Amino acid sequence: MTPNAYALIGLMSIVAALIGVLMFAVLRFASAARESRRYLSENRSETAFVTGALHDAVTKLKVQEREMLARAEASERLSEEIVESLTSGLLVAGSDRRVRILNPAGRRMLNLPEGAVGQDYRELLGDAAPLEEAIEECLSTGRAIKRRKLDIGLSEHSPAYLGVSVSPLSTRQGEPHGVICLFTDLTPFIEMEEQLRLKESLAQVGELTAGIAHEFRNGLATIHGYARLVDLKLLPDAFRPHVEGIRQETDALGEVVTNFLNFARPAQVTFSRVDLRAIAERAADEVRNEARSHGGSVTFRGEFPVIDGDDVLLRQAFSNLVRNAVEACVAASVPPQILIDGRVEGGNVRVSVDDNGPGIAAAARERVFTPFFTTKGRGTGLGLALVQKIIVTHNGRIQVGSSPQGGASLQVVLPLPASP
Ligand SMILES: Nc1ncnc2c1ncn2[C@@H]1O[C@H](COP(=O)(O)OP(=O)(O)OP(=O)(O)O)[C@@H](O)[C@H]1O
Ligand SMILES: [Mg+2]
Repeated sequence: MTPNAYALIGLMSIVAALIGVLMFAVLRFASAARESRRYLSENRSETAFVTGALHDAVTKLKVQEREMLARAEASERLSEEIVESLTSGLLVAGSDRRVRILNPAGRRMLNLPEGAVGQDYRELLGDAAPLEEAIEECLSTGRAIKRRKLDIGLSEHSPAYLGVSVSPLSTRQGEPHGVICLFTDLTPFIEMEEQLRLKESLAQVGELTAGIAHEFRNGLATIHGYARLVDLKLLPDAFRPHVEGIRQETDALGEVVTNFLNFARPAQVTFSRVDLRAIAERAADEVRNEARSHGGSVTFRGEFPVIDGDDVLLRQAFSNLVRNAVEACVAASVPPQILIDGRVEGGNVRVSVDDNGPGIAAAARERVFTPFFTTKGRGTGLGLALVQKIIVTHNGRIQVGSSPQGGASLQVVLPLPASP
């Protein structure tokens, strides 16, 4: 063998070895590629499974969320509807004194505009101070107030009496965070109660005293009769004024007793359709001249419907009111400006007799209807007691307030006929 042959054999064996290594590498690579393809395909189906499960779960959660949202919205709508349609007033306030809820019935009763939510109830309820005090009491003591009767006072727009319940609100942990206050208008019930009480007490007063007054009047008539029999011309001059004095006093006392008997006697009411304006006009005519002679006037305004009532008694009632008004102005030396104002309010008519006199002090307002309460030298104090009796007999009521002219405002409220 030549050295070249050896070299060739060597070279070929190197090439064969290299081919072998290359083949081995190609085979390993192919097997790795196969392996990774298998792994990838297996892995992809697992991811798809996980993704699908996740997707299902999310869809279910979304459905549940939508249902929960719809339920929450429905229950919110229901509570809103309940609050809106409550005929009682509802006010919810936080510990910070801010109003959280005030329903339409509450707004109407308290005569408040929309937009009360968020405001401080102490500022909002300025015209209904007793209600504000009840809420404040519950907030500060944490104790509930059950069905308390509150006297809000006479106002044209809001009720005079409220029935109120206030309860504290607290979290589940017992932390107080506000109050809930429910209130209703008790005015019609209290007024009805008052009317019944008045009717009863007037009947009692009538029964008790009418008999005595009658006897008294008989005695007076006898004294008066004897005094008339005395011939003044036959009397010495010094005695004449004494007999005249007896006659005058018995006259005056007789008038008081007659007035009292008129007041005490059970009212004989004859109901018929009457024109309120015509009645008030006739009463005004009685004092018109006197008002004019002091530089004043008696004027009418508003609407006066036809009602069911006793013509004679109602005229007597309005006579007393306009007479009092003129007398008050004349006594205060102001030209009497008397305004008789009629207004229909729901099922009632309110007739106000307003004057520009000195008015009636708040403390005296309760007493002016008491028999014999008078501030006049020659008054019997029976005028307004009789007016009240007449109005109560007509199922109405009478209230005292201040007139826009600064004087007194005597307001008669009478029911309108049930059917036209
Ligand atoms: N318009 C008014 N302005 C001011 N005070 C009034 C008015 N009306 C009534 N009063 C007060 O009420 C009191 C009672 O009135 P009421 O009519 O019952 O009796 P009187 O007028 O005093 O007596 P009488 O009616 O018998 O003449 C009056 O004395 C007066 O003090
Ligand atoms: Mg009078």
